[in-house]
Amino acid sequence: MKIAKLARQLLVVFGVAALLTAAVPQAAPQSPGQSKTPSFPWMDRTLSPDQRADLVLKEMTLDEKIQLVHGTGWGAMRQGSIIPPRTNWGAGFVLGIDRLGIPDINLADSAVGVRMGAIQSRYSTLLPSTLGLAATWNQEAAFLYGSVIGRELRDQGFNMSIGGGVDLAREPRNGRTFEYAGEDPLLAGTLVGQLMKGVQSQQIMGDIKHFAVNDQETGRNILNAILDKRSLRESDLLAFQIAIGIAQPAGVMCSYNKLNGDYACENDYLLNQVLKKDFAFKGWVVSDWDATHSTVKAALNGLDQEMPEDKYLGAPLKKAVESGEVPLSRLDDMAHRILRSMFAVGVIDNPPMPRRVVDPFRGLENAQQVAEESIVLLKNADNLLPLSAASVKSIAVIGSHADVGVISGGGSAQVDAPGGNAVDPKPGESQWQKPIYFPSAPLKYIRRKIPNAKVAYNDGTDTAAAAALAKSSEVAIVFVNQYMSEGRDVETLSLPDNQDALVRAVAAANSRTIVVLETGGPVTMPWIQEVKGVLAAWYPGIGGAQAISNILFGVVNPSGKLPITFAKTDADLPHPQVPGMDLELQARATNQHLQPFDVHYTEGLKVGYKWFEAENKQPLFPFGFGLSYTAYAYSHIKIDEQQRQVTFSVKNTGPLAGAEVAQVYVQLPASAGEPFKRLVAWQKVQLAPGETNTITVQLKPLYLSIFDVEKDSWSLLPGEYKIFIGASSAETPLTASFHVGE
Ligand code: BGC
Repeated sequence: MKIAKLARQLLVVFGVAALLTAAVPQAAPQSPGQSKTPSFPWMDRTLSPDQRADLVLKEMTLDEKIQLVHGTGWGAMRQGSIIPPRTNWGAGFVLGIDRLGIPDINLADSAVGVRMGAIQSRYSTLLPSTLGLAATWNQEAAFLYGSVIGRELRDQGFNMSIGGGVDLAREPRNGRTFEYAGEDPLLAGTLVGQLMKGVQSQQIMGDIKHFAVNDQETGRNILNAILDKRSLRESDLLAFQIAIGIAQPAGVMCSYNKLNGDYACENDYLLNQVLKKDFAFKGWVVSDWDATHSTVKAALNGLDQEMPEDKYLGAPLKKAVESGEVPLSRLDDMAHRILRSMFAVGVIDNPPMPRRVVDPFRGLENAQQVAEESIVLLKNADNLLPLSAASVKSIAVIGSHADVGVISGGGSAQVDAPGGNAVDPKPGESQWQKPIYFPSAPLKYIRRKIPNAKVAYNDGTDTAAAAALAKSSEVAIVFVNQYMSEGRDVETLSLPDNQDALVRAVAAANSRTIVVLETGGPVTMPWIQEVKGVLAAWYPGIGGAQAISNILFGVVNPSGKLPITFAKTDADLPHPQVPGMDLELQARATNQHLQPFDVHYTEGLKVGYKWFEAENKQPLFPFGFGLSYTAYAYSHIKIDEQQRQVTFSVKNTGPLAGAEVAQVYVQLPASAGEPFKRLVAWQKVQLAPGETNTITVQLKPLYLSIFDVEKDSWSLLPGEYKIFIGASSAETPLTASFHVGE
């Protein structure tokens, strides 16, 4: 942080500290954020969270209730804003109620690790991107991922995470694709649910966002997403339903966009009817930052807390309650939801104390473990991989600053790199939308694997020089990247910065070329036939280089599978161009404001692989795809129609131990009108060479059902259901079917 900025902020802090302190007349004697006052009846832990919340609520004044339902401003997030004296310098702050022992709520962005650490010289572990996590298809890895975030939030004195992105990859060029968990509602919902359960296992409140259909960044504040109800329920909202069901998060963050005509944060259908009634969500709806647009409408339609300010749910809400426009019972419900979540998760019984520091070694170990499971081997011609450490004599490492680090994603998911950006190391905060590399250098870890070989680096800016180095080396490894950030979508699936030409030049010079992708989402590969190997390493996190080198040299056998389809070209996507991108580019060029526009998600249910299958389009790499250094065979499918169970065997037929993600898809009866299959279950199994595992999965009715809009409920249609089982959505050697009667 610049010294002048810091000084200004400190002035603001001290300037307003007195004011704010004066505004809290009954400050408790205990230290800020602490709440252990056993004499309060609601501190009786034998009572339920709802009972405890009601006891507090009875004691609260109108002003105290209002105080709980909004933040106190942009704080550290926006220059010149007031920094409340007790804030922990996160993205949001809600002042607690000291006289009742209710602690402050300190919220921190923490999608892939805790954000904004550098302001206070704090360290946080950068995990692989959430999309990378989804590529593990491993629920335990997701829980671990969340528990790292929860642990580090606790160590840093925060009591609420605002991560948990689960918007479906309807638009893969969405700048936040890396923060989300892919294109399938079951996979995304399950893994993000487990992630948030992991966060809350540390007694830190979790949140799931952005509710809903915030599926692109272009025009996110003004666009009106139009999607029919059935598609909504079976795709985007199903991901939320599953995640919320697993995690029971304290919060759900409503999004910036409009959905079918109403802003998400004042959308009765979304918040009241679906989230609170159908999903039986007991926590509170927190607005995205500045996503609140009204007082009465928002309050009545389900918003429980405005962030980060009090424009609508501060004084205007008090007035509306006093005038009866918003019933007091509704304000009580808002406050109740917040309080009961605080009790349920444990932040009142066990408040975090900002006295510890994060354990970077433990974080690194955890991050590396997830990264190793997340990397997807997309191509391995002639079994070039794994490289033999004993025999390889020379390697050319090219591009993407692989000599110093790995790239990370931007926006509010940006974690500050220790020591600053590895490419330009100056300690301090990350800049918005400026690519940040973390100090996990692939070159270093490749060298460690082969200390006696020649490993040379070329930065790839001069393709001829890169090709020359590749030519003089036995193997060439080209690192390429695609930077993504909140606030802007990528214009195309193509790799930026002439990197396709770089790969081509290197591949032409060396027939043993391997490409390592460090990308936020899927990219096109016009050079795919020219290279021998491709690894998708996503944004691999602080243990990324270690994980990549372990995969390259076979210390780890790859087991990741794509959580998102890789298209051959943008033209094959439902929307060849990101909707509104042309308007945005035009507005930018002419210095105008982008005007509101509609996005018609006409592909409806056909998200990702469902689109490709229904439209008969061949992807570059299908959903669920990923190779291994060993091989697996599927056999012996058996169906128990009564129990709706399917049993099958997977055998490791190759020479190495490995883990396979066995995927179960179902195609519904024709009357469903769904000309594609959908993922209904999977299991990741660890297999020694020659070992066979018999897997039984239960087919859950929800995942076999359609959403019947007429009846406003889920419906299991009668008819024949076809089952497809295999290693990816496109390779399903086992098939069978079962009937559901009238
Ligand atoms: C993002 C949220 C984030 C919030 C606070 C918003 O711009 O959309 O995901 O949590 O800012 O940083």
